[in-house]
Amino acid sequence: MTSSAAVVTLDHVSKRYGPAGTPPAVSDLSLTIPAGEIVVLVGPSGCGKTTTMKMINRLIEPTTGRITIDGEDVMRLPAVELRRRIGYVIQQVGLFPHLTVAENVAVVPRLLRWPETRVRDRVEELLDLVRLDPATYRDRYPSALSGGERQRVGVARALAADPPLMLMDEPFGAVDPILRDRLQNEFLRLQAQVRKTIVFVTHDVDEAIKMADRIAILQRGGILAQYDTPDAILAEPASEFVSRFVGADRGLKRLSLGRVRDLALTSPTTARVGEARADVRRRLDEAGAEYALLLDESDKPIGWIERRDLSGDDGVTPDDATPGSPTLQPESTLRDALSAMLGSSVQLGVVVDEAERVLGVVSVDAISEVLRAPAATVR
Ligand SMILES: Nc1ncnc2c1ncn2[C@@H]1O[C@H](COP(=O)(O)OP(=O)(O)OP(=O)(O)O)[C@@H](O)[C@H]1O
Ligand SMILES: [Mg+2]
Repeated sequence: MTSSAAVVTLDHVSKRYGPAGTPPAVSDLSLTIPAGEIVVLVGPSGCGKTTTMKMINRLIEPTTGRITIDGEDVMRLPAVELRRRIGYVIQQVGLFPHLTVAENVAVVPRLLRWPETRVRDRVEELLDLVRLDPATYRDRYPSALSGGERQRVGVARALAADPPLMLMDEPFGAVDPILRDRLQNEFLRLQAQVRKTIVFVTHDVDEAIKMADRIAILQRGGILAQYDTPDAILAEPASEFVSRFVGADRGLKRLSLGRVRDLALTSPTTARVGEARADVRRRLDEAGAEYALLLDESDKPIGWIERRDLSGDDGVTPDDATPGSPTLQPESTLRDALSAMLGSSVQLGVVVDEAERVLGVVSVDAISEVLRAPAATVR
């Protein structure tokens, strides 16, 4: 990669479309957007998200205040220089209908007068990157693409000149929820490679939580209601407006940010098939536990055995165990883990590795503990 990421600052920026006295679309907005992060602007329709974006790339001029990219005032940068630094995915994709996919992606490189071979190579590289086979898609027109394919071409076009800053205005707004989820995942994978500074607009709070390193919540008039990490916003909404905007289920939403691997696992009392029941009872007594986890010979969990089912002296058999306790992967979200555990009788989740060997257990209590913990405001 030739370029690194850019820092963007908005310093007391306001925008009034009408004459003095009309209510502003954006009011005294100050934000620092750190290099290499995804900052999501979210808020209800008409709250000034698109206006804020367009002031960053100077399609709209602020009424007052100053915007800088890497310390330089955008109003002082030549237009060509600004376009080189900023990739823009506009609301509703906005591909040129009379240009092919390849020509659409090549618009900015041609504007910058790159040699034709370099343009061609870059187009191929980008179509691969957004997972559109160049041979299949290069010469198609936008009208012959699905909505999701168009959005990927839009992302490829914005990345074309390798800009350190990307502005993306509801880039996944026009597709169904399943495809949107896939595009979001692809985009996060892409961002892990390219590490651009990204300003991303949505009015979907779940999309904001999933995509953002930081979220700026705007309310009508472009007033900044809160600017923080998703976890901090969900844990401590700064106002009634934010709290209503993120929704009553913000606790559950917060759980979707955490992973099982973030929890301290505890070691269960275990038992082996064939082991004397008396030995298992003794170990349960020592541990002060009511349940033992029965393992097979390769350490895979079979199920839980309750203490009162361990009378007598024979060996433990697989039939003694109640199967169906949920197994969890370290990568599972805490939200998924909780719903799996609430459906089981033991309310303990067994965490297993790729070979299904037991790593430890987590309790419902350990998860609710996370919700009581203060938020991480920097990550
Ligand atoms: N060219 C314009 N002239 C006058 N008012 C405008 C203009 N463009 C936007 N506005 C007004 O400014 C406010 C903010 O508009 P903006 O497009 O920034 O909202 P938004 O947050 O992007 O909304 P949405 O989620 O619907 O895209 C709105 O009240 C809108 O009507
Ligand atoms: Mg908008």
